[in-house]
Amino acid sequence: MKGTKGTVAIVGAGTIGAAWAAFFALAGHPVCVADPDEGAPTRLAAMLERARPAMAALGTLSDMPTQPQWYRDIAEAMQGAEFIQEALPEDLALKRQVYRQIEAHAPEDALLMSSSSGLLPSALQQRLSHPGRFLIAHPCNPAYLMPLVELVGGAQTASEALDRAEKFYRTLGKQTIRLQHEAVGHLVNRLQAALWREAVHLVAEGHASVADVDRAVTEGLGARWTVCGPHTVFHLSGGAEGMAGFLRRLGPAMQAWWDNLGTPTLDAATCQRLIEQMNEAAAERTPEQMAAERDAHMLRVLALTRPDTQSPE
Ligand SMILES: NC(=O)c1ccc[n+]([C@@H]2O[C@H](COP(=O)([O-])OP(=O)(O)OC[C@H]3O[C@@H](n4cnc5c(N)ncnc54)[C@H](O)[C@@H]3O)[C@@H](O)[C@H]2O)c1
Repeated sequence: MKGTKGTVAIVGAGTIGAAWAAFFALAGHPVCVADPDEGAPTRLAAMLERARPAMAALGTLSDMPTQPQWYRDIAEAMQGAEFIQEALPEDLALKRQVYRQIEAHAPEDALLMSSSSGLLPSALQQRLSHPGRFLIAHPCNPAYLMPLVELVGGAQTASEALDRAEKFYRTLGKQTIRLQHEAVGHLVNRLQAALWREAVHLVAEGHASVADVDRAVTEGLGARWTVCGPHTVFHLSGGAEGMAGFLRRLGPAMQAWWDNLGTPTLDAATCQRLIEQMNEAAAERTPEQMAAERDAHMLRVLALTRPDTQSPE
């Protein structure tokens, strides 16, 4: 990874913005980060250290990594930006308001990409002066490690902007998916929300604990999902007949399960139960310790399923 790489401006240095900053800097891009919060430099430094071994193992670490530059002020961070990765809180009004500042100071041809987990791009781009260059580029957490970036255009997004974004992320070793139509929650979070709705229902109704529901995924579904998506899983359940055999033999049962799924509400009692049982399952490990363990395990999984990845050991 040599040569001059375009400057990336990150707006917001929280969980996702700091991870993006580490990813782009360690991939060799100049990175400018805007966040008024005084804690931002500490988060950026910590994320850089966490991301470095992960990216080395993934083969995405540049031989000329950079250091993210932190600015309190958006105007300064936008100078010379070719790619802007917005990672502000998930708040439509705030994002729209900050986009006005971004547009006032960023080069007109800079791609403007939002990390939003679920807001519609058409709503986000509505009041922009240059809406054609706006799209959603949604990472999975942590952005420096997980392969996927979902790309979603809105009603006014130019197809060239999506092409440019796709090339940008693929050159950085990411896998991209383009949604054909925007949808609240895009693709990954809709799938995740569907599973978590049932997981919460099972805990709220006392069928199983938080720890056991999590184990059902990590020990049951998850290992399969790293190599087969949910459709392929059932294609392989259908024997030689594939999906047709599965639908004939188990389609009616699946329909009955769907009809029986829960629709929980995140009311105070349900939230309390989730918090208490999650704390118990965490067994006094801090979220930081758990994130470090997650990264180490993910790297081992990626090393097995992706030929370019080196095992961290
Ligand atoms: N957390 C996740 O797992 C995850 C995953 C994928 C995408 N996302 C999306 O990424 C975005 C950021 O999420 P997060 O979890 O990092 O949020 P966060 O609250 O951790 O970080 C938001 C950051 O934005 C900063 N900020 C607030 N106002 C600002 C302003 N006017 N200018 C510059 N910076 C400002 C805050 O100081 C904070 O550091 C959201 O849209 C979210 O939906 C989150």
